[in-house]
Amino acid sequence: MKTILGIETSCDETAVAIVNNRQICSSIVASQIDLHKRYGGVVPEEASRQHLLTINPCIEEALRTAKLTWNDIDGVAATVAPGLIGALMVGETAAKTLAMIYQKPFLGIHHLEGHIYATYLSVSNWNTPFLCLLVSGGHTSLIYVKDCGIYEQLGTTRDDAAGEAFDKVARLLNLGYPGGPIIDKLAQKGNPKKFTLPEGKISLPQGGYHPYDSSFSGLKTAVLRLVEKLKQAEPNQLPIADLAASFQETVARSLTKKTITCALDHNLTHIAVGGGVAANSGLRKHLQEAAKQNNLTVHFPPLNLCTDNAAMIACAAAEHLEKGHTSPWKLGVESRLPINEVMKLYCH
Ligand code: KG4
Ligand code: ZN
Repeated sequence: MKTILGIETSCDETAVAIVNNRQICSSIVASQIDLHKRYGGVVPEEASRQHLLTINPCIEEALRTAKLTWNDIDGVAATVAPGLIGALMVGETAAKTLAMIYQKPFLGIHHLEGHIYATYLSVSNWNTPFLCLLVSGGHTSLIYVKDCGIYEQLGTTRDDAAGEAFDKVARLLNLGYPGGPIIDKLAQKGNPKKFTLPEGKISLPQGGYHPYDSSFSGLKTAVLRLVEKLKQAEPNQLPIADLAASFQETVARSLTKKTITCALDHNLTHIAVGGGVAANSGLRKHLQEAAKQNNLTVHFPPLNLCTDNAAMIACAAAEHLEKGHTSPWKLGVESRLPINEVMKLYCH
């Protein structure tokens, strides 16, 4: 299997990693969270500038930690879509330049494909087909992974992504950024059954509900209205832990129901979870229990592989290179690209 150097700069992490045969030789992640914290979210221009400052030291560090030289590298990969255009361009330019200088193939990778392949790095015998639940700050997707490069998005969010909902609810409770880990911690001390909140079902024109799509903006508004009501009754006594626990419980139950239904409907016995929200203790508990009851296997990679990293990008690239896929030099970056269109990134 090939040794790939992968670069990830689609959002607020500058990451470089080297992967060989589903093994991580090195994985460097320089997070920009502290930089963006003061603005309460990611500022795109700041992100690009920071990637420019950090990318070269990260590449050197990845090679040094892996104790490898350019002679050992078989291909260079970078995330090219979806993401912040300026941020993506930093990684793409670095990868193409290095691939040209050292005469290696270049591979442009879809960020969600990286999250899909994170599971390969933590379970050596994991293979297609499987269902991937991808829950991050930007995505809530149920993806049927048929083969390398062949994906069908079966479910998505109609409005806010799961992580975005955690971040927005944390902001309205004045808890700070990013909100997911803070809500998760508070929820441990609260009563998840204290408040009943709406799950956000998507009605279908022919009646009934969409089985796999989600909506979280109604839930966020319901939390806002509840907070206003509670504040009126008791201005200084907001039950923050109960609110966090009830919100988390609603999200976890809703995602679990959709994921299990989707897996069963498509006869898929294996479920891989990815993205920052895969760290959530409520989601882990509910999905693991439901999978067990339905004789399904669910895998949550370790947290450092759920959040953005370059090892998953290098791993996805290795799978593509193994199939003979490489990207043309003229390939550019895209802020949006549906997952079922990834083969557009390769030469034919
Ligand atoms: O995958 P990720 O690191 O970056 C994106 O590609 O978006 O995900 C970040 C998101 C944030 O919205 C953060 O609040 C959420 O993941 N998150 C969590 C937890 N840890 C991170 N959400 C719920 N519970 C957590 N423990
Ligand atoms: Zn991501």
